[in-house]
Amino acid sequence: MYMHKSMSSTTLVLCCSLVLVFVYGVSGTDHIVGANRGWNPGINYTLWSNNQTFYVGDLISFRYQKNQYNVFEVNQTGYDNCTTEGAVGNWSKGKDFILLNETKRYYFICGNGQCFNGMKVSVLVHPLPSPSSPGSASNHSSHKSVAPLTVESQLRSIMLSSALVWFGWNWI
Ligand SMILES: *[C@@H]1O[C@H](CO)[C@@H](O)[C@H](O)[C@H]1NC(C)=O
Ligand SMILES: *[C@@H]1O[C@H](CO)[C@@H](O)[C@H](O)[C@H]1NC(C)=O
Ligand SMILES: *[C@@H]1O[C@H](CO)[C@@H](O)[C@H](O)[C@H]1NC(C)=O
Ligand SMILES: *[C@@H]1O[C@H](CO)[C@@H](O)[C@H](O)[C@H]1NC(C)=O
Ligand SMILES: *[C@@H]1O[C@H](CO)[C@@H](O)[C@H](O)[C@H]1NC(C)=O
Ligand SMILES: *[C@@H]1O[C@H](CO)[C@@H](O)[C@H](O)[C@H]1NC(C)=O
Ligand SMILES: *[C@@H]1O[C@H](CO)[C@@H](O)[C@H](O)[C@H]1NC(C)=O
Repeated sequence: MYMHKSMSSTTLVLCCSLVLVFVYGVSGTDHIVGANRGWNPGINYTLWSNNQTFYVGDLISFRYQKNQYNVFEVNQTGYDNCTTEGAVGNWSKGKDFILLNETKRYYFICGNGQCFNGMKVSVLVHPLPSPSSPGSASNHSSHKSVAPLTVESQLRSIMLSSALVWFGWNWI
């Protein structure tokens, strides 16, 4: 009896977490380019990006010496040829967080010539894994609901889930 109850609350916790993680995107990972080596010349960032899985809503962040390097988002031509012509965006703060909000391949390069020394990285962003049936759930535009959701309302959901679990455990 007791075991059954505690197991069902565990299941509930798991379900709530999954819903929160996958529907509300609470878990957006921050992918630090180059990990502890950061954004610097002489690093093969293909090896780095092949070792990660990127999902919509994740962040990619570049850490480097400000004024020495920078970051441009370019298209495939810019990536292949190390040109910033027609760049989509540029960052130069030295600690730049970029939201990967679209399922596509992104291309980033350094704009001061160091692209030729390896300062280029491309990442393929996957759609969020769907907790239920892939077809219908992915059509439910789950990430459209990410934007209007405030931290406050996310916290409220978490508290509500916890309350449900607590309530369930004690009274059901
Ligand atoms: C980086 O590593 C990838 C995968 O091993 C390899 O294909 C590529 O040629 C390397 N790039 C450079 C510039 O060495
Ligand atoms: C790949 O990632 C794992 C865990 O994040 C890490 O331990 C490993 O060193 C990485 N490998 C490379 C080649 O970066
Ligand atoms: C990019 O480089 C390729 C060869 O690597 C060349 O054919 C092409 O014209 C270049 N594109 C631009 C826009 O420079
Ligand atoms: C990338 O952008 C440049 C400049 O806007 C453009 O000439 C080129 O055709 C684009 N390449 C791709 C693959 O879209
Ligand atoms: C960098 O982006 C800003 C807009 O965010 C733009 O005004 C500026 O021209 C860009 N710089 C370069 C070098 O592309
Ligand atoms: C992603 O963010 C960029 C830059 O903030 C914005 O221009 C674009 O419309 C966004 N795309 C989606 C699907 O929200
Ligand atoms: C997704 O929704 C659109 C319109 O809301 C509809 O036309 C399309 O058939 C749906 N696709 C699936 C796989 O349900």
